[in-house]
Amino acid sequence: MKAIAVEREGDRPVVVERERPTLTAGEALVRTLRVGVDGTDHDVIAGTHGSPPGGADHFVLGHEAVGVVEEAGETRFSPGDVVVPTVRRPPGESNEYFERGEPDMAPSGTYHERGILGEHGFMAEYFTSPEEFLVRIPDSIADVGFLVEPLSVAEKAIDLAYASRSSFDWAPESALVLGNGGLGLLTLALLDDAYDYDRLYCLGRRDRPDPTIDIIEDLGATYVDSRETPVDAVAAEHEPMDLVFEATGYAKHAFETIEALAPNGVGALLGVPEPWEFEVDGGRLHRELVLQNKALVGSVNSNVRHFAAAAEALPSLPAEFLDVLVTGVYDLDDFEAAFEDDDTTIKTAVQFSSYEERR
Ligand code: NAP
Ligand code: BGC
Ligand code: ZN
Repeated sequence: MKAIAVEREGDRPVVVERERPTLTAGEALVRTLRVGVDGTDHDVIAGTHGSPPGGADHFVLGHEAVGVVEEAGETRFSPGDVVVPTVRRPPGESNEYFERGEPDMAPSGTYHERGILGEHGFMAEYFTSPEEFLVRIPDSIADVGFLVEPLSVAEKAIDLAYASRSSFDWAPESALVLGNGGLGLLTLALLDDAYDYDRLYCLGRRDRPDPTIDIIEDLGATYVDSRETPVDAVAAEHEPMDLVFEATGYAKHAFETIEALAPNGVGALLGVPEPWEFEVDGGRLHRELVLQNKALVGSVNSNVRHFAAAAEALPSLPAEFLDVLVTGVYDLDDFEAAFEDDDTTIKTAVQFSSYEERR
């Protein structure tokens, strides 16, 4: 079967030939429909995040997958079920985090991530997975099922942020999403659709006309240009934010978020920056966190519960939003286009087989 991988010492994805995987006990064989591409994949290709399985001469990419069960084995699934795999796997032996169903809370060294860290990804015509790492989704969202994983990441971060405000009567009205990439825009649409914010904002660094600015404004949110209004000036320029969701990976934003927050507000940090030394007024930020009851939570990955929430939320996101968010779905013949990263590209996917063909 064909797979998309980065070869050892390679700096771009190529098509490789691999054996089709065979079932072991407790697993299902899944025929891949589509696999999305995100900022993390670009980091993996560039070698700045994650690492291939030990000893492998190539690394199969992809962690945002949707597929159809081809062979159900002894699992609870039936052939034809549309499923999405979670990303983390035990690094050999299982551990308490996986046993609790919370591998997203596992510390470094106690997990692999398919397509990112230590285990091949899903960008192949078929993949196998233990049933506990597969989530069934409605057939009606098979085409956009590759958005369930990034949406699950947003669900988890929002869940953690809200949990940190659960000890008092918190009624958030304003939210700011930092980043107009795939994750930022999906989160903005989720906050608009499933939460009760009066005012939403989204930060980027693009000139008009730009498709992401159109998306932001079509969702009824306000575009904030970080070149004109840095994150620590947002409160004065617009308003203090009850929730900030950082999805830029720009390290200064983690600290500037504290200044953007309203009293009692919470910032969820999701970016994965490389080391970068810069000056901050630590005393001021510390004081601000304490005296204004502000919180910052870091959030990574997501578990089955968040995937289920995402699968429930996805069908109610506006179809017009999804149409413009997904700027390209490419067959294997043209897969390179899915990895292009310019201002016309928002969310892309590689298609391994079409859902219609399968029925
Ligand atoms: P992405 O497509 O690279 O999006 C990042 C966006 O942030 C881009 O649109 C970029 O704008 C914008 N941006 C970067 N620096 C900025 C600045 N200083 N001011 C304004 N805008 C800025 O990546 P993604 O897939 O959406 O993911 C977003 C981040 O979350 C990445 O850092 C990724 O590694 C991380 N992530 C984390 C998790 C997790 O579990 N914690 C999961 C998924 C992704 P331009 O395009 O104009 O440069
Ligand atoms: C993935 C997460 C993963 C994180 C860190 C993200 O792009 O969506 O599942 O945990 O990267 O590697
Ligand atoms: Zn991702």
